Amino acid sequence: MDVLDSGWLTTGVKSHEFEQAFAEYTGVKHAVCVNSCTAGLFLTLSVLDVKRGDEVITSPNTFPATANVIEHLGAKPVFCDINLSDGNIDVEQIKSKITRNTRGIIPVHYAGAPCDMDALQSIAEESNLFILGDCAHAVETTWRNKKVGSLGIASSYSFYATKNLTTGEGGMIATNDDEIYHKVKTLRLHGLSDDAESRYTKNGRFGYDLIAPGYKFNMPDILASLGIVQLSKIEENHRKRVELYSHYRDLLEVIDCVTQLDPVVKNTHAHHLLPILVDFSRLCCEKNEFMAAMKSENIGVSQHFKPLHLYSYYKDKYGYSKGDYPNAERFGDDVITLPFNQYITKTDIEDVVDALLKIIEYYII
Ligand SMILES: Cc1ncc(COP(=O)(O)O)c(C=O)c1O
Repeated sequence: MDVLDSGWLTTGVKSHEFEQAFAEYTGVKHAVCVNSCTAGLFLTLSVLDVKRGDEVITSPNTFPATANVIEHLGAKPVFCDINLSDGNIDVEQIKSKITRNTRGIIPVHYAGAPCDMDALQSIAEESNLFILGDCAHAVETTWRNKKVGSLGIASSYSFYATKNLTTGEGGMIATNDDEIYHKVKTLRLHGLSDDAESRYTKNGRFGYDLIAPGYKFNMPDILASLGIVQLSKIEENHRKRVELYSHYRDLLEVIDCVTQLDPVVKNTHAHHLLPILVDFSRLCCEKNEFMAAMKSENIGVSQHFKPLHLYSYYKDKYGYSKGDYPNAERFGDDVITLPFNQYITKTDIEDVVDALLKIIEYYII
């Protein structure tokens, strides 16, 4: 209401306040709010001068946006297989993907579980590569007591409707690098030397220059104000999800045909999603039928993710086929994400697990 009453709806004081609070929370020098994680990834890659002929290594177990932004710049996304234990990129395999065209790595902290940042940083240093974190699931995630988005040259966060911190749509670029900060800040709003606020507010000055043909990726104050409130609740919501996750974990432990992912005890898991792997080789049904059965039990399930190399675009363009990334494929075949957020109750969780049990008992061979 403050924003609406103020008459200043677009990027202004609330966006700056959100940026400062977010930078403090994630332990970075600079945060720049944008209108999506996708925009943040794209903008940062373009500032890193990723271009035609370059290669960027990433995980196939992600949302298409992670690789699409590499394509948008004319570069090639090079996929590297994942660990079945946590769904994250298998750092052991990264070196075999590096060529003389490789510029960087985009690790995706799947479901909120941190990638092995020690290994990633040493590979990046050795081969002079950048690390740009896809932190869409990972606002709260830490690695050795540091927020995972503070490691690497920069990170991009998502505040999409389903995320732990949401502004409906939105995102944030976090970086400790001054040059990247200044460039993304200018390019997120057309490439103008001064934003609207600095032109029209009381002490603002008129006139501006165009530094470069930038983009329209800014976040309005209406959404930033939601972000400020959401951020103030983030730890409390995370604490609730940790407790609910532990209830899920205990109940799922005894279910036949279900494998849970690595619980991540040494670092903070953001608990954005609750994926399980179902052993369909022991059930006489396909995954779609299983998911439909869950739905008819009134349980909303989803799947994160179908491996990117098997989507028509990537398959047709790069000639990928089944068998290229066996773990990502196995993961994609078996993964089901269960209903999970800070608002569900322990009784809801028991209903989900009862439905799961009933369906597994029905289909088990
Ligand atoms: C891993 C991952 N990266 C990037 C994105 C894109 O986020 P946004 O919708 O904010 O652009 C998503 C969205 O769900 C995601 O899950």
